Amino acid sequence: MCGIVAYVGHREACPVIIKGLKRLEYRGYDSAGIALMNGSLNVYKKKGKVADLEAALADVDTHGNIGIGHTRWATHGEPNDVNAHPHYSTSRNIAIIHNGIIENYASLKQLLIQKGHTFQSETDSEVFINLIEDIRVNNNCSLPEAVRLAMHEVVGAYAIVVLSKDTPNQLIAARKGSPLVVGIGKGEFFLASDATPIIEYTNEVVYLNDYELAVIHDGQLDIRTKEDVKKTPYVQTLEMALESIEKGGYEHFMLKEIFEQPKSILDSMRGRMIAENDHLMMAGVREFENKFQNADRIIIVACGTSWHAGLVAEYLFEDLARIPVEVEYASEFRYRNPIITEKDIVIAISQSGETADTLAALELAKSKGATIFGVCNVVGSSIARATDAGAYTHAGPEIGVASTKAFTAQVTVLTLIAMIIGKKRGTLETTKLRQLIAEMESIPSKVEKALQLNEQIIGISEVYKDATNFLYLGRGYNFPVALEGALKLKEISYIHAEGYPAAEMKHGPIALIDEQMPVVVIATKDSSYEKIVSNVQEVRARKGKVIAVVTEGDTTIPAMADHVIEIPETSEHLVPLLSVIPLQLLSYHIAVMRGCNVDQPRNLAKSVTVE
Ligand code: M6R
Repeated sequence: MCGIVAYVGHREACPVIIKGLKRLEYRGYDSAGIALMNGSLNVYKKKGKVADLEAALADVDTHGNIGIGHTRWATHGEPNDVNAHPHYSTSRNIAIIHNGIIENYASLKQLLIQKGHTFQSETDSEVFINLIEDIRVNNNCSLPEAVRLAMHEVVGAYAIVVLSKDTPNQLIAARKGSPLVVGIGKGEFFLASDATPIIEYTNEVVYLNDYELAVIHDGQLDIRTKEDVKKTPYVQTLEMALESIEKGGYEHFMLKEIFEQPKSILDSMRGRMIAENDHLMMAGVREFENKFQNADRIIIVACGTSWHAGLVAEYLFEDLARIPVEVEYASEFRYRNPIITEKDIVIAISQSGETADTLAALELAKSKGATIFGVCNVVGSSIARATDAGAYTHAGPEIGVASTKAFTAQVTVLTLIAMIIGKKRGTLETTKLRQLIAEMESIPSKVEKALQLNEQIIGISEVYKDATNFLYLGRGYNFPVALEGALKLKEISYIHAEGYPAAEMKHGPIALIDEQMPVVVIATKDSSYEKIVSNVQEVRARKGKVIAVVTEGDTTIPAMADHVIEIPETSEHLVPLLSVIPLQLLSYHIAVMRGCNVDQPRNLAKSVTVE
């Protein structure tokens, strides 16, 4: 987690960095800080949001053309002014911003204390900058060389930028396991955790690789490995539009992203499907078509919402392609000595492409010879680069911490993959394939229709905004949607919610139901419809309040429910793309009504780059 931004060039550094930090605030918002060369090397930092830092800078002469900034998601040490970044070295001659975790910081700190270094904070990052200072003084070497040598000493993950008062035109950056992008402008350079702070100024970027060190000095970018091998920067041109990272008139990014789904779903299927001749095309899958065809098993690794998309994919792959699927929490998979063979395909799903557990899980599977396929949203992200092949979801930047459009884009892409493999394996007959393709094409307009439920859902939210618990029930393809609905509510409204397979309710959770308990039942017309009707009756019999998501035109469940949300009819295989929409809206409105910070919920960060 944490967001880092640095600038050197002809502009005033402070406003560029503050604006950049605001764009990266989704990565953490416990504290913010900046180091500037405004006369000398000065650090300003504050607990709280970037806006608090900005206010604290109001009376400071921030004039200067170089600086480094940080927005923090606390790992080592509580969120307060002292633990906020940047951190000075003991001499206060150099300062660091750091995203990641240094695992051997405690032993390094002991050693450095013995050598006379002093520490103000509880952070591992302050250990890193003192280590760099120690190496520099003892080896009498340049600062870039000291950073390079320090990279050999630290264990863990980092993206760092170092600024020194002795070389006021120089930024030194390094990465291992945490993302770092260099933006190349005309006579100016930017460094950031992702491209969003940069895109306004330049679309020419270089993604640093693990164990690389970048030195920006006198208008030159020098990249070398920690073994001191010089690298030629690979400059990429970004296609990201500035509007895609702004709120565009919506009150929150989350709402904007919910409403973007007709377009983001369309973008995720664009060019991959031609209805007339049942043509499905995905370059990454084509590359491994035979592997997919002959796979013994597909293992899906992911976390959070991406894991829920993986559960939907389990139903799809088993149903349409008849390949056994296991869906694993990446954090469990990586530590439980899993059985993986060369005939397994491991699919890593991640919006950010930076989730540490997912990355580690795929590295483990790779080391055992499995083929690794990525489904990521962020182009050029660590997971995307670590896979053998993959498919981008093309949902566009997702800024709200609660994942919405990324989920539907992931499900869309996974559905297409299941259809391609099903076709190839002969398990998906042509008539059914044609029907599915035609139905897929109608999904964006059906999502548009589902979004028109917004007003109705505001009304339902009013009724239940003060509830202390919620249950979400679904069966089959709607079971992962129930989990996703509960997660959305929990993370942004802080209401306890549980998602459950509807039939499992009678094995325990039914005890929770009384007249205070809102129960969201996703009960669309599909193969388990009759069964879920019984489950709704079980809830009613215990006086639970039923909020039912049903297929348009249904009359049976509406007769039993307190509130009925009608979504357009679609194929059972595609229903999660529609049934999740009202649940996203419900959680959003309840959270807003409770006065919660929807885009930046407490304790969370958008990309979880620590394990
Ligand atoms: O970037 P990823 O998809 O790998 O992130 C995984 C989870 O951290 C993420 O889905 C998280 O659960 C969201 N906050 C859910 O809304």
